[in-house]
Amino acid sequence: MRDRGVRSSELHQRPVLSAGHGAICVARVLKPKSQEPYLGEQLNAMKILIFSDIHGDTRALERLIAQPADLYIAAGDLSVFGRGLERIGTMLAPLGRRVWVLPGNHETEQQNHEFCGRYGLVDFHRQITQIGKGHWAGLGYSNPTPFDTPGEYSEEEIGEALSAFDDLPSPLFLVVHFPPANSVLDEVAPGRHTGSRVLREWVERRQPDYLFCGHIHECAGKTDQIGSTRCLNVGKSGYLLELDEEPSL
Ligand SMILES: [Fe+2]
Repeated sequence: MRDRGVRSSELHQRPVLSAGHGAICVARVLKPKSQEPYLGEQLNAMKILIFSDIHGDTRALERLIAQPADLYIAAGDLSVFGRGLERIGTMLAPLGRRVWVLPGNHETEQQNHEFCGRYGLVDFHRQITQIGKGHWAGLGYSNPTPFDTPGEYSEEEIGEALSAFDDLPSPLFLVVHFPPANSVLDEVAPGRHTGSRVLREWVERRQPDYLFCGHIHECAGKTDQIGSTRCLNVGKSGYLLELDEEPSL
């Protein structure tokens, strides 16, 4: 499996993005050439649209769900301190179980669970799901913030939650709400990093293929590399990943 690294400038020419929503970035994860059995497989690529930090912005959500995708992953903070989830839920409900949701630091675990149940969505918090050969692991909340938000874990709790993903085989896709510390994705001001130390240590040790996060709005759309792990802050514009897998949910 490899990421063909399609540049966002090229991606904006792609038909899937032709509806005037060019802010969404796309990457294709395809098998190495020697393993590509036939061209038609690409036509069956599974499209996964990952986004974060909607914070009640229904126009941003409208743009996202207007994009064709087989799976939509909301990586946390659909609301502001838990408010506004009803409108968001009404918009997402028609997509049903094709929407996986993490609680951000603005939602509690229980609130997210009830929200998913009420609108027929999938609660992806602390869950592991297999898509084709790949494993997808989800972890919401954030490391401690100065804002006293309801969905925060201590670094110790983050370590405990991540340990459930220790033995997952590659390819491994980790979706978290918060970024790893001392990266391009957690710099709220020049030289001021606010990500999770324990998440960074886990990524350095375990090396998932991909890490998708949000949370730090200043870093939305940025990417970083930690060893062999490609890390992306998907932000509320979202990131469309195309997997060389049959859509199968
Ligand atoms: Fe957040």
